[in-house]
Amino acid sequence: MRTLHTIAELRAALPGAGACVFVPTMGNLHEGHLGLVRQARAHGLPVVASIFVNRLQFAPHEDFDRYPRTLARDCDQLQAAGCDIVFAPDERELYAVPQTFKVQPDPALADILEGQFRPGFFTGVCTVVMKLFGCVQPRVAVFGKKDYQQLMVIRRMVEQFALPITIEAGETCRANSGLALSSRNGYLSDSERERAIELVGALRTLARRFVREESVPLQTLEAQAMDDLRASGWQPDYLTVRRRADLGVPTAGASAGEEWVALGAAKLGGTRLIDNVEF
Ligand code: PAF
Repeated sequence: MRTLHTIAELRAALPGAGACVFVPTMGNLHEGHLGLVRQARAHGLPVVASIFVNRLQFAPHEDFDRYPRTLARDCDQLQAAGCDIVFAPDERELYAVPQTFKVQPDPALADILEGQFRPGFFTGVCTVVMKLFGCVQPRVAVFGKKDYQQLMVIRRMVEQFALPITIEAGETCRANSGLALSSRNGYLSDSERERAIELVGALRTLARRFVREESVPLQTLEAQAMDDLRASGWQPDYLTVRRRADLGVPTAGASAGEEWVALGAAKLGGTRLIDNVEF
C-alpha cells in the first residue's frame, strides 16, 4: 500500500480515469470504514481511500479542531483491509487557494434534517467529494448508509453532474450492543457509550409505531419519540420517518407499500450522534 500526500503523486500512481474504487473518509477509522474498503475490493480494481478532515463541512462551533487525526494507525488498518493507495493530502494541498467555487446541493434534499441543524454541511461535503472525485477519478465510490442523507445527496450530485461514477452504499456496521460505529463514539464516556444505543432503540420504536399505529399522526409519533429521548437525558434535534426514495415526508395513511427510513440525530452529553433504520 502506498500513502500519498499530493495530487501530483496520486495522479502518477493511478491506473487512469475510471479504473479504481474509492472510499473517502476523514480518518480515525473503525470497522465500519474497513467494511467499506473490503466491499470496494470485491470489484477487483485498485482501491483508493482518502483521509482528509474537511474544514468546509464543519461549522465554527463544531469539532474540527478536536476531530481525531490518527494517520499512522489508519494506514495500518487500511493496509490490513486490502487498500492499495491512501490519499492523505493536507489542507495546503487540497485547498491550496481558498475554495471559492463550491457545490451547492439541492436545498430540498440538503437543507432538511442534517442540513437544517448543520447549515452549509452538505455544501462542504459535496465540494470536497467533488474535488476528491476530480483527483481520484474512480469508477465506483462507496459511502456508508450510516450517513444516510449524505449518501443520497452524493447520489443526486453524481446524477445531476453526469459524473461517470457509480455510488455504492455500504451497510451500517454495529457493535454487538447495536450501537452504530462512528468516529464520534470516541467522545463518549463509558456510561454514555452504554446508553448510546437508546437512539437506535428510539428509531426502531418509531418505525414500529409508524407501521402499526396508522391512525396516530406521524407528527405525534415523532414528538413522543423525541420526548422519550429527552426524558432519558438526550437533546434530540430530530427523529423522523421519511420516504427512502427522496427523504420526503410520508403522506397521511401511507405506511403500506412504500420503503421508509427512520432517521435521528441527538446529543448525549456533548456528543452529537446520528443513526437511521430502514424498514
Ligand atoms: O463521511 C465522511 O467521512 C465525510 O463526510 C466525507 C464523505 C469523507 C467528506 O469529507
